[in-house]
Amino acid sequence: MLEKPYYRPRRLRFHPRLRRMVAETRLFPEDFIYPLFVCPGEGVRKEISSMPGNFNLSVDHLLEECREIQGLGVMAVLLFGLPPRKDEIGSGAFAEDGIVQQAVRAIKAVFPDLLVITDVCMCEYTSHGHCGPIRNGEVDNDATLELLARTALSHAKAGADIVAPSDMMDGRVRAIRQELDGNGFEHTPILSYAAKYASGFYGPFREAAQSAPQFGDRCSYQMDPANQREALREVALDIEEGADIVMVKPAMPYLDVIYRVKTEFEVPVAAYQVSGEYAALVAAHRNGWLDRDRTILESLLSIKRAGADLIITYFAKDAVRLIRAQ
Ligand code: PBG
Repeated sequence: MLEKPYYRPRRLRFHPRLRRMVAETRLFPEDFIYPLFVCPGEGVRKEISSMPGNFNLSVDHLLEECREIQGLGVMAVLLFGLPPRKDEIGSGAFAEDGIVQQAVRAIKAVFPDLLVITDVCMCEYTSHGHCGPIRNGEVDNDATLELLARTALSHAKAGADIVAPSDMMDGRVRAIRQELDGNGFEHTPILSYAAKYASGFYGPFREAAQSAPQFGDRCSYQMDPANQREALREVALDIEEGADIVMVKPAMPYLDVIYRVKTEFEVPVAAYQVSGEYAALVAAHRNGWLDRDRTILESLLSIKRAGADLIITYFAKDAVRLIRAQ
């Protein structure tokens, strides 16, 4: 006679309540950060074609959006700027009345509780689309540091709660920390894009932020998708230089990296579910190939389960709605 199983894992799976009680991972509204793209002008709300549901917003519409976000209970936004003009060094990034600086001031004046995180990078502001000034056909690392530090300081002065450098230059966290500390912003945290890969999944973002490189690619500064141990070195360096939160980006194709960063370091870990991850899912939803609500939550749950404390996602509003409805 066949011996019956003694331990039956299914016992805990029958009752929906019990399933919820033994769930190992949960999503909370506090987990999410919502990216927003601010552009010059007034009355602008232009949908980004490869990221349905996301818009280039002028400051007036940005405030409308923040009202909705605040109402839903999303805690934080991540701001990207589209400047009115670009130049060789990306001076729009640190202009006192630059687009992000204006947006931060406007948001904090109306929604002081909404956490405003600013992306610190030059690529939206340079005419060539690279993340720093070019010398001899390559991005000049050390010349970029000074520009990034100026940019981060100008964001902090405008009222940013957190600055988030995404350029992948060597030494930028230290440069930014020094500049902030030297100017009375020693309490402004740095969320560092520590392990940022040279990824094909950024495609739609580059349309959204008009930041595609005009020649070459970003492989000389962003990480090779083949490398996991190198990510740990990058994270260790950034923590040493003063990063308060470290990020892995993209998220779903790099869950192993998220897991290792979480297990080997004691700082909060963020993961960025990037534009291409979003676009791929939305395309499948629109074709009726995947169930929208289920796959949004499952994708976010996988990122959290891997170890992310914070998730930057274009699904943040949907996620919070879905979690509250559960
Ligand atoms: C700027 C930056 C990029 C993203 C965030 N900050 C683009 C890039 O590095 O090319 C990508 C975000 C996304 O794809 O959603 N350096």
